[in-house]
Amino acid sequence: MDQTSVFDFVLRKNADLVSFALGLPNPDLFPVAELTAAVDAVFKSPGDVYQYANPLEELREHIVRLMAMRGVTCAPEQIVLTNGAQHGIDMAVRLLCGSGRPIVLEEITYTGALSAVLAGDTPVHTVGTSGSLARAVAGLVGAGVRPGAMYVMPEGHNPLGVSLPGPERRALAELAREHAFTLIEDDAYGFLQYDDEPRPALRSLEDRWVFYVGSFSKVISPGLRVGWIVVPDALVDQALVVKEASTLEVATPGQHIVARLLDGWDLAAHIGVLRREYALRRDVMRRCLEEVLPAGTPFSRPDSGMFFWVELPEGVDTGELLKVAASEYGVSFVPGDLYLSGPVQAKRNYLRLSFSCVSPAEIEAGTERLGRLLRDRGIA
Ligand SMILES: Cc1ncc(COP(=O)(O)O)c(C=O)c1O
Repeated sequence: MDQTSVFDFVLRKNADLVSFALGLPNPDLFPVAELTAAVDAVFKSPGDVYQYANPLEELREHIVRLMAMRGVTCAPEQIVLTNGAQHGIDMAVRLLCGSGRPIVLEEITYTGALSAVLAGDTPVHTVGTSGSLARAVAGLVGAGVRPGAMYVMPEGHNPLGVSLPGPERRALAELAREHAFTLIEDDAYGFLQYDDEPRPALRSLEDRWVFYVGSFSKVISPGLRVGWIVVPDALVDQALVVKEASTLEVATPGQHIVARLLDGWDLAAHIGVLRREYALRRDVMRRCLEEVLPAGTPFSRPDSGMFFWVELPEGVDTGELLKVAASEYGVSFVPGDLYLSGPVQAKRNYLRLSFSCVSPAEIEAGTERLGRLLRDRGIA
């Protein structure tokens, strides 16, 4: 199914449709009152906010403190503000993949990373996602591939809904050091972890070979379009040039609003609320999927992020299934083929379910409909 048709189904408004397709932060969890106060204050104070501006120092200082929550020690000068994580990924690809050295992608990966890579002419090598990522990369370099970069989502993998275990992170960092390639760490979901002890970022293990991509989209609001990268020291100047070439600077109001918000508001406490709310939905969806999916259906057990990834039997086309699901059963999802590249690209039997924007009651209703659809179609 092509991306335009998927969006047609995904964005379709229908009061009775339960959408597990929208992978957006839940709008009920945006800090609207606090943001409104910050916006008022920022626009009332004359001066800077209306003008072209340099990166706001107070915001970079706030980000240094946030990075400490991810186990990363860094200085404000190492932080480059971006228009969200997507901009950071695009900058990483531009900065690291110009030399003709290939980039390594997981064969199931985030569509925005695929777009950033495929927009250029960087050679791509894919690695499988079912076993050890580090072993797969070691296999590639052992076969003579000399990557310039590898894109990874250690937390809240979109769409797989998994996190990378500690030993895998250490092994990847070790491989990056040994073979001189840069890990692009997309930590867009890094603060949305549901275990008691949050895992630190990959960047906490390695400075020189990890290009960290962060964002306020999932913890404050994506509409603000404010994110950041923490780049290896050697890349800071180049990163500023690449950013200037494409956008000059992040929009001044966005910078001021986020900085003002963080001045007088407890983001860590808000993250605690988000973790609780999303974990509740994750738990309900997990229980429901265990009940409604045919016995033995492989599906992920997310401990961070917003997604479940389901593998239906070979031969099922989830693009075709979506049409029936949305129009006759009142439930939608994203067919998995949008996220595929490499040897698995032709597979049509995956789907992604998001639990972020639905209530527990909607999750129960929507998964019941999905289960009924599968039974009616004899998918077992
Ligand atoms: C894995 C991943 N990375 C990056 C992004 C982009 O985030 P931002 O809004 O910060 O650009 C998304 C958005 O959904 C995402 O799922």
